[in-house]
Amino acid sequence: MTEIILALDVMKKDKAVSIVQKAAPYIDKVKIGYPLVLAEGLGIAEILSEYKKPLIADFKVADIPNTTRLIAEEVFSRGFSAIICHGFVGHDSVRACVETAHENMGECYVVTEMSHPGAVDFFHGGVAERIAELVCEAGADGIIAPATRPERTAVLRSLIGNKKILSPGVGAQGGDPDAIAGIVDGIIVGRAIYESSDPAAAARQYSCFRTGI
Ligand code: C5P
Repeated sequence: MTEIILALDVMKKDKAVSIVQKAAPYIDKVKIGYPLVLAEGLGIAEILSEYKKPLIADFKVADIPNTTRLIAEEVFSRGFSAIICHGFVGHDSVRACVETAHENMGECYVVTEMSHPGAVDFFHGGVAERIAELVCEAGADGIIAPATRPERTAVLRSLIGNKKILSPGVGAQGGDPDAIAGIVDGIIVGRAIYESSDPAAAARQYSCFRTGI
C-alpha cells in the first residue's frame, strides 16, 4: 500500500486548486514547495485544506536550529501536517525540525539523497547513509529517497527500518513506480500529473500502487 503524493509545483492558485480538485480521488497527500508558496503565499495551504488532503511543506529546510524552528512553527500554524528538511545540516538542526513538528502533532521527513543526476556529486560516498543514521537518532518520521535510484533507496531502507520513505522522481524524472513502490511508503509525482491535459486520468494511473492490486 503506497500512498500517492501530488507534488503541486504550479505557480497559480487557480491552477493549483483545479488540479487538486481533479486528482483528489486518486491521491493521498499534497506536497507544496517554494514555487507555489513564493508565487501565491503560504495562505494557499488554507485554500487547499478544503480538499481534506494532508499537506506536506517541502521547504527542504537547511538552516541553524533557531531559524529551522521558526520556519517549522510557521508551517504548522498554517495547517500543514508535515515538513521536509535537509539532513546534511547536522543533528541539532534536524532535531529542531523534528521537535517542532512533534510539538505540533506533525511529521518531519529528512532528505537523505536527492533524485536528480547531480545528487551523486555529494550524497554518495557514505553521506546519505550517515544522514539515515541521524534520522533514526533524531526520531524523525521518515526520509525522502530517490525513485530514480531504487537500489540506493533499498540501501537506505535497510538502515531506517520501519520509518517511512517518501520517494520523488517517478514520471518526469524517469523513475519507474513498479521498481520503487514495494520499498517505499509514498510515491511523489509532480509533472506527470499536473502537466497532463487530464490530471485525473494521470493520477488514476498510479491507483494500483495505492491499493496494492
Ligand atoms: O515533477 P516531478 O515529479 O519531478 O516532481 C518531483 C518533486 O519532488 C518536486 O517537487 C521536487 O522538488 C521534489 N523532490 C525531488 N527530489 C528530492 C526531493 C524532492 O524531486 N530528492
